[in-house]
Amino acid sequence: MTKPLNIGMIGYGFMGRTHSNAYNRVSNFFDTEYKPVLKAACARNADNVKAFAETWGYESIETDWRKMIARDDIDAVDICVPNNLHKEMAIACAEAGKMILCEKPLAMNVAEGEEMCEAVEKAGVVNTVWYNYRRVPAVTLAKQLIDEGKLGRIFHYRANFLQDWTIADDLPQGGAALWRLDAAAAGSGVTGDLLAHCIDTAIWLNGNVTNVTAMTETFVKERMHNLTGQVEPVGIDDACAFLCHFGNGSLGLFESTRYARGHKALYTFEINGEHGSLKWDLHDLHRLDYFEHGDEGRLRGWRSIHVTDGDHPYMDKWWVPGLQIGYEHTFVHQVADFLEGLSTGKPTNPTFRDALETQKVCDAVLSSAESGQWADVG
Ligand SMILES: NC(=O)c1ccc[n+]([C@@H]2O[C@H](COP(=O)([O-])OP(=O)(O)OC[C@H]3O[C@@H](n4cnc5c(N)ncnc54)[C@H](O)[C@@H]3O)[C@@H](O)[C@H]2O)c1
Repeated sequence: MTKPLNIGMIGYGFMGRTHSNAYNRVSNFFDTEYKPVLKAACARNADNVKAFAETWGYESIETDWRKMIARDDIDAVDICVPNNLHKEMAIACAEAGKMILCEKPLAMNVAEGEEMCEAVEKAGVVNTVWYNYRRVPAVTLAKQLIDEGKLGRIFHYRANFLQDWTIADDLPQGGAALWRLDAAAAGSGVTGDLLAHCIDTAIWLNGNVTNVTAMTETFVKERMHNLTGQVEPVGIDDACAFLCHFGNGSLGLFESTRYARGHKALYTFEINGEHGSLKWDLHDLHRLDYFEHGDEGRLRGWRSIHVTDGDHPYMDKWWVPGLQIGYEHTFVHQVADFLEGLSTGKPTNPTFRDALETQKVCDAVLSSAESGQWADVG
């Protein structure tokens, strides 16, 4: 007998769609005690949110998120809005006793993130942050191999997240879709938007980051602001690169930019250890490359594992071995794990507290870029 989990969704943009898709599909593939029910969708524009609700199957709409949070028939609230709204909404949800699934980055900065952690912990509400790349089966497999000690001592971790969509200097900042270019809504540029993903995965796979030295650049200094109609200074980082130390003694190298012509979402990481190495590339997300030094010398080389077999993470729930899944499934997996956590009482990682660690690294990166000095994390 399944139990309903009534979802209230805030935001109908990119993430509103990926999450709605995940809630709709999860119970077709994962056998969980709880089943999501799309109870209400909320955004400020009634016509737009009504169209969204009809497309995805929400039972009702709201145009004021506070009204939705106050409803007795909402169990869990999904926060899919720009970063500057996460804190206020999450704290209000915690105070209303709602479970929270919040988009990343957790907050605009560490101070906000700490308030959010305190609020959910004080209220005792179930919480998670959508760092969805943890749930790409190939990335989850990397985690298993590292935890089993297959790489031995880790020496290097390097990651990139490269895009090219903000190169035009007549692209405005602010408002729908372009809030990412507006520091007041986004908090930072590529650091909080893209590197936050790389940092979350890195902490998950390789442990805590202790200190960083970073550089950032804003290539286009002024852009027309959609909300004011004025040309205004650009406050976000267009590009960011940093070096770091991990607590396990390994060295990290991270780069992100929206100015790498030809790259749309090239998220890659590579980890080099004493006994082997791992490589992953979002553009080929169902593959994990693995080099094992212990292989017989004549046969030693990089192997490309097609992560689609039934004994690979999550893959027994999908089609048959050899048939791959994609980006949207990472969100289905996070919902499945969240529902499972409701039954077992096990928190769904990353919790707000876990995601605060990524926020601390982001803040240290921005602080180092500003000072030109190494910065300690936290
Ligand atoms: N996990 C990921 O891979 C990933 C990918 C993209 C975005 N994100 C994160 O998801 C969040 C949303 O990003 P997006 O790409 O979906 O943005 P988007 O611009 O596509 O959508 C934002 C939504 O927020 C709504 N909104 C804005 N202000 C609101 C308010 N006051 N009340 C109610 N609704 C409001 C807008 O109407 C819109 O529907 C951000 O925090 C972003 O960093 C995560």
